[in-house]
Amino acid sequence: MATILDGRKLAEEIKADVRKEVETLNKIGVDVGLALLLVGENPASVQYFRATLSACKKAGVTAYEFVLPATVTLNEILNLVNKINTDERIHGLLVLMPLPRHMNPRRITNHIVPEKDIDGLGAISVGRLAADESTFQLFKKGTTDSDQQSRFIPSIWSFLPCTPFGVIRLLEHHKVQIRGRHAVIIGKSLAVGKPLSSMFLAKEATVTVCHRETANLTAMTKQADILCSATGRAGLIKAGMVKKGAVVVDIGINVLKNGSITGDVDFKSVSKKASMITPVPGGVGPVTIAMLLENTVRSAQRDELFKSPLILMG
Ligand SMILES: NC(=O)c1ccc[n+]([C@@H]2O[C@H](COP(=O)([O-])OP(=O)(O)OC[C@H]3O[C@@H](n4cnc5c(N)ncnc54)[C@H](OP(=O)(O)O)[C@@H]3O)[C@@H](O)[C@H]2O)c1
Repeated sequence: MATILDGRKLAEEIKADVRKEVETLNKIGVDVGLALLLVGENPASVQYFRATLSACKKAGVTAYEFVLPATVTLNEILNLVNKINTDERIHGLLVLMPLPRHMNPRRITNHIVPEKDIDGLGAISVGRLAADESTFQLFKKGTTDSDQQSRFIPSIWSFLPCTPFGVIRLLEHHKVQIRGRHAVIIGKSLAVGKPLSSMFLAKEATVTVCHRETANLTAMTKQADILCSATGRAGLIKAGMVKKGAVVVDIGINVLKNGSITGDVDFKSVSKKASMITPVPGGVGPVTIAMLLENTVRSAQRDELFKSPLILMG
């Protein structure tokens, strides 16, 4: 039976650290603010919105709620993003996806200033990750404390998408070796599959990305030392598609007719073959929200650091 990669436990640890860092900022008069923008009433978005609000409250982060009807125009949203971009109380903006069909989500995510793009989906954040210029480098390089610190300051102008970042954190927390291993990702979305592939590459894995047009999915998945599925297709990954001893990360969230939540992986059969596996719920999902809070507090810390003339001179 595979070891369970428990996301809830890790998320609690990350959130407890965030809370301490928020308290430190509070002591110098800084309130950490996260704006949440919900357009329409997509049930998954509403659920994520509520879960994020509750997490903010527990971490001491002030949530600024912007709830708009699905009939709102793109210009109205862009004007609101402009206001959030210049509001000094707000350190990060999360736009709940999916947006109503008539709206191009790229227009909105690209409008968020990179410094507040705490879900890392704007073109500049995406480009910085692809160019190895993101905060991710903090975790990749730097062998001494001072080296890490020196990398931290200039590299924090953009953030990593929370879900794939959470996957990496979950693997590292459980001491899964990434370097030199073959990571196979199913799904190539901008929010999950694609940035996850960049992160695995930055961690020096060999990476294969699969999607709907992949000719022989099983031939690919069977090669994986680390198999990550982000498709939204319940039961897509069966035991016969998994190499014995593989680490299996299930990112998918699927709501079944009876209201229960399941991932992309047939947990019962795959857990007998894998060495490690994430459950759904309780795997990647909770870590995603924790990463969102961590990115927000990093944004607030950066703002404070750069207010100090001493830091700027240094
Ligand atoms: N745990 C979390 O915190 C979290 C966060 C975000 C998303 N999610 C979940 O993760 C899943 C993916 O989200 P997303 O935003 O990336 O979705 P998405 O934009 O719909 O992308 C799905 C990807 O899966 C691929 N795909 C779909 N069916 C496939 C199949 N039968 N064989 C191979 N590839 C297939 C698609 O291929 P094509 O590109 O060829 O169409 C696409 O690249 C969803 O279930 C979502 O709810 C979870």
